[in-house]
Amino acid sequence: MTPLPTTRHELGLLWRARPAMAGLLLAGQGLARLPGPAIRSVPGIGWVTGDPVVAREVLKDHRSFTMVGEGGVGDLWAQILGEWVRDLFDGPGHHDLRTRARDLFTERSAAELVAEAWGPVLSDVGTRLSAGEPVDIAHTARVLVGRMMIELLGIPAPAGPGPDADTSPGTAPAWPDDNGALAAFRTGERLAKLALGTATSTTLSPTAIAEAKLITDELTAGVPEAFRTAPPTRLLGRARELGLGLEETTGLAGLLMVAGTETSASAMMRTTALLVDTGEQHRLLAALAAGAAGTGPAGADTSSSATTPPGTDPWEPVVREGLRVTSPASVIGRGVSRDVEIGGARLRAGDRIMLLVWSANAAAGPFRADREYVRETRQLWFGAGRHLCLGAALARAEISALLRVLWPADGAVPLRVVRRRAARRVIVPGYEELVVARS
Ligand code: HEM
Repeated sequence: MTPLPTTRHELGLLWRARPAMAGLLLAGQGLARLPGPAIRSVPGIGWVTGDPVVAREVLKDHRSFTMVGEGGVGDLWAQILGEWVRDLFDGPGHHDLRTRARDLFTERSAAELVAEAWGPVLSDVGTRLSAGEPVDIAHTARVLVGRMMIELLGIPAPAGPGPDADTSPGTAPAWPDDNGALAAFRTGERLAKLALGTATSTTLSPTAIAEAKLITDELTAGVPEAFRTAPPTRLLGRARELGLGLEETTGLAGLLMVAGTETSASAMMRTTALLVDTGEQHRLLAALAAGAAGTGPAGADTSSSATTPPGTDPWEPVVREGLRVTSPASVIGRGVSRDVEIGGARLRAGDRIMLLVWSANAAAGPFRADREYVRETRQLWFGAGRHLCLGAALARAEISALLRVLWPADGAVPLRVVRRRAARRVIVPGYEELVVARS
């Protein structure tokens, strides 16, 4: 019997999110192992591939494939925000934007941003866990990501402070608060949900377009003011300093919102569950203990051929594995812009292709806390080529910050899952609820 490509809980998440997509991802994983062309045609969907090398080739060939044509996410955005998106997302405007935005998130600025925006919430999670309280990590991840969105987009507080608000110096700022953060996350989720059902065509209905416009207007309402006034240490202030215009910045803000919210929250909660479900948290705990004892993580498990080498941060492979095995952006779509031969197939201009990113990444094997870098997949969970995830450093910093609080370097103990519930009918698979506690 073929072993399962990942945990049954993970498969359950894919299934509850979108059953048809789950079937396609699993089939893609199976097909990638069979001899024959790496790209196949699926009726109603178009071309699909679960081969990591071919997927990367497609993502890097921007002359033959486009994200703003039918099948690509830019096509959805162009209908919502306007035709100017086509240039900003894939034309010369995109090159200009990426060149200017290159340093928007560095490893260092991302870690600082996370510490600043999430510090109090994370420390509260740590305190509650060590006091033996259960914590819902799905809720926590949504609150954290919502807070980040408010911070990045300069989303203003819904109204002025209420009559009871304590505004005396030294009190924690009242905005953002957890409810506001959750509301921002849910609004972003509503926007992403409009893309459900676009697997066969990225043309949206007039009602969906109208709704999406309302949501983006709501989410980006604070951008013009923040763009004008934010200091250069804030994202929108940096965008201004980088020479981006208001329209570009609003477009970028919309992109960040959709690309970087559900994906990050999904990776955070699912990596937490994976560490518990696979038992790999014990390997991690051993590496952390060895690190604390000064013997280096390698002392932790000499039976393993892929044990983290001495001096390596044990969190680095864990975060990478979490991203690989969950691959929150489970598929990437592209339109074919000119006839091209690739992966043993001949594609025609106007066709569409779906890259089964989850399938390609899962093929490397089950989650291991110390798996080395996999050459074939590289970081395909962040895409490749000119659209490679702009927020990759931020996403890694976010996942790492949460996990380090759940399994702190000093005094980490195993966690157990107390209760869980998968999210249904969502674009990005995840938990609606994932309650963990110390074992
Ligand atoms: C685990 C979390 C994340 C995953 C798995 C992820 C994945 C991806 C993928 C696969 C793409 C390429 C899409 C394509 O080629 O069609 C992408 C693009 C992008 N991501 Fe992320 N992302 C994550 C987090 C973030 C965060 C936190 C941000 C920023 C706040 C962000 C901002 C972007 C932007 C702006 C793009 C578009 C880049 C372009 O078109 O040039 N992402 N992401």
